Amino acid sequence: MSDLADPDTFVAGVPYELFRRLRDDEPVAWTPEPQPHQGFWSITRHADITAVSRDWQRFTSSRGVSLEELADDQLQVRTSMIDTDPPRHSQLRKILSGQFAPRVVNAYEAFLRGIVATTLDHAFAKGSFDFVEHVSSEIPVRVLTRMLAAPDADRARIVAWGDRLIGHTDPELADVLLGSAESEAYRLLPFRSPAALEVFEYGRTLQAERRAKPTGDLTSILVQAEVDGAPLSQLDLDNMFLLLALAGQETTRQAISLGLLTLIEHPDALARLQERPALLAGPAADELLRWAPPVLHMRRTATTDVEMHGVTIREGDKLAIWYPSGNRDERAIDRPDVLDLDRPSVDLLTFGKGGPHYCMGSFLAKLEFRVTMEELVTRLDTARLDGAPQRLRSNFVNGVKRLPVTVTRRT
Ligand code: HEM
Repeated sequence: MSDLADPDTFVAGVPYELFRRLRDDEPVAWTPEPQPHQGFWSITRHADITAVSRDWQRFTSSRGVSLEELADDQLQVRTSMIDTDPPRHSQLRKILSGQFAPRVVNAYEAFLRGIVATTLDHAFAKGSFDFVEHVSSEIPVRVLTRMLAAPDADRARIVAWGDRLIGHTDPELADVLLGSAESEAYRLLPFRSPAALEVFEYGRTLQAERRAKPTGDLTSILVQAEVDGAPLSQLDLDNMFLLLALAGQETTRQAISLGLLTLIEHPDALARLQERPALLAGPAADELLRWAPPVLHMRRTATTDVEMHGVTIREGDKLAIWYPSGNRDERAIDRPDVLDLDRPSVDLLTFGKGGPHYCMGSFLAKLEFRVTMEELVTRLDTARLDGAPQRLRSNFVNGVKRLPVTVTRRT
């Protein structure tokens, strides 16, 4: 198996040196996978990732956005908005996109700042703690439960489902490892994970409650929505709910963990933010998100033969667009290997770039990230690692499972 197809590669961190070699020498690189998978093209330059993201006609999402090869019967039941092309994609996205618009999301700021302050104060009082468990998991899930009108008390279950789904390639977290013979029994479930059934069940209970008593939250909007005059099917509701429950917390959690890790590894950057937290309201927050993006790749599938950098991508071939690589592409970013919180602007790929699937929650994620980092740096005197960060075994999510830290508070 080649490096990028192997989740073990990412346990040691993102292979930036490999990505640099690919960008320079082989920007469209064939990446073999073990049988029965067929391999995929790795797209590593910023401009190419952008072009593929935008060109949904030639690079479809409808065969799935993860590298798992799905047969038609699997696609029929496992497809959500993210694996759908326009025009149906646009109809599905329109149902909730207004709820993630800047005007709506900005109204959460005061609530969010309250949660962040309480969470950080509680964690700082411990001195030494796992930042993932006590801070970065807590904040996004609290926002998500509020948006879904789910009970706050359910947040530990929601976090655990996210771990089991995203951890489907990590023996510590998976119920059933992707690629194992056992996983065949779950081939019709998202991520081949039995956790998906629990998420569906949970979603259905919430949906029944909101049907009876709508409250204007995301769940209420979903159950009341119509596409072409018909309500969403239970299958659509299940998959949409699972997408939200996962996308709404896992990635933002990683952004916050990776944000602190980046600052611990770059004491000058931490000092700069401690001196001027206001930088986070400008491009400094994007610079941190460029440096350590939570999503490693999305997959597309060619709908026709396409020539790119002298290579023929054949109809039906899979492509992986590698966001961390594009974020460090010297062709698009000046001095990409320098973390520079004073950059005037950052051409970020962390949330995708253009195209129909550009992250629907990006304003919310950025607000959560900025407010958390602001409250963190203004409290922080010193921070150090109490052991190596434990990384997720995944080539899909740039995950940190545990981040043991000791912090001291400014007086
Ligand atoms: C730092 C946190 C986050 C990162 C890095 C992130 C990243 C991404 C990426 C890379 C995509 C695919 C873009 C593409 O294919 O062009 C995506 C899609 C999506 N994200 Fe996020 N995301 C984050 C937070 C969120 C949050 C908080 C939500 C809220 C629920 C969310 C909801 C979604 C949805 C629904 C999609 C699918 C959009 C579509 O298919 O039209 N994300 N995200």
